[in-house]
Formats: sequence, structure tokens, C-alpha cells
Amino acid sequence: MNNYLISPSILGADFARLGQEAQDVLEAGADMIHIDVMDNHYVPNLTMGAMACSSLRRFGINAPLDVHLMVKPVDRIVGDFIDAGASIINVHPDATTHLDRTLQRIKESDCKAGLAFNPASSLDALKYVIDKVDNILLMSVNPGFCGQTFIPNVLHKLREAKELIKQSGRNIRLEVDGGITIDTIKSVADAGADTFVAGNAIFKSADYRETINKMREQLK
Ligand code: DX5
Ligand code: ZN
Repeated sequence: MNNYLISPSILGADFARLGQEAQDVLEAGADMIHIDVMDNHYVPNLTMGAMACSSLRRFGINAPLDVHLMVKPVDRIVGDFIDAGASIINVHPDATTHLDRTLQRIKESDCKAGLAFNPASSLDALKYVIDKVDNILLMSVNPGFCGQTFIPNVLHKLREAKELIKQSGRNIRLEVDGGITIDTIKSVADAGADTFVAGNAIFKSADYRETINKMREQLK
């Protein structure tokens, strides 16, 4: 029995109405909200900070907030997101000098710790820290923007990550992020993904519920 989760990225939402957009997409059947934090240094775009998280909480969003930090160095802001009500904090291994310490910091809070990998990054960093990881996020586009084309090479990597999770014997979720649409979701699920981030495919669609339902149809 698969327990699939759909995590719409509010990077694709209308920034003037973030709270309402998050609420709408949750009412339409999403499981959580993906928050893409970009610093215009680690990635070539600038988005939002921990205030987005605390504002969503204040607005009344109770669903898990799945934070994806594309910030270097990342350590300084991890605590801000813990305090702001994040549920999962995903960091890229090459955005911190002391990955083990960063993961420990997240684990000491109530948040789940995620490790995120760019399309061309190897999974080597997992080797010595997998015991501290609750979520593995594989980028299926180069990070920075919504609406890019899915990179099929991630399918091999998903299988590789799935195997590492199996070997670890731990309950680790496998999330895929970038270019996920009604047309690509099945292939990533077949390769082992259980959590699906989608920005434009959901937020640029006319009917969020219909799009999410169609995605779930593909997962049956
Ligand atoms: C890219 C972000 C993704 C992105 C997904 O750097 O990490 O979460 O918003 O957007 P789509 O689904 O449109 O590729
Ligand atoms: Zn993301």
C-alpha cells in the first residue's frame, strides 16, 4: 500500500494571495505545502524567507510545511524556519560546511530533516548521515524556477535512492521536485518516489482539485 503525498510549491502561486492560495490547494486535496526558499546566490532567484512560513501559520494553515532551502550558507537560517513553524526542512549538502551538524540541529527540533540533491549531484553525502535523514528530495530540474522541463535522468537516481533507503531499514520518504505534471508523475512513482512537488502544474491550472485528482489517478 503506497502512501503518496502531493506537495504543491507555492513558488507557482500568486504571491499577492499566498495564504489563500495555500488554503485553496489544501482544500483541493493537497497534502502539504512546499516552500521554495532561494537566496540569489546558491540559485539564481530570490523568493521568500521564514516570514512566509510564520505568515501561513498565522493565516491558519495547519498542514505540514515542506521547506526547501536553496540558500548558502544554510545554517544561519535553519533556526528561523524551525521557529516559524516548518514541518520538514530540506537542505542541500553542498550548502553547508558541516552537514551532520545541520541535520542534528533540525532533528533536535520537532521538524523532520530532509536532504536535497541537484540533478547532477551524487547521493554520496547520504552515506554517513542517512541515520539522521527523514526525507530525501531529488531535484528533477535545476533549482531556481518553476515551469522547467523534467530531467529524465532522475529516474535512475530515484531507484538508487530507493535502494539506499531499503538498505538503511529506516522510514525515509522519497520526494521528487521539478517538472512534475499529470504526464510525468507516474514514471517517478514507478521509480520509487512517494512525495511529489508540483508548482506550475497545479498553480497554473484552472482547477486545482481536478489537477490533483488527475495526478492521483495516475498513481493508482
Ligand atoms: C525549483 C523548485 C521547485 C519548483 C517546482 O527550484 O525547487 O520546487 O518550484 O516547480 P515546477 O513543478 O513548476 O517545476
Ligand atoms: Zn523545491
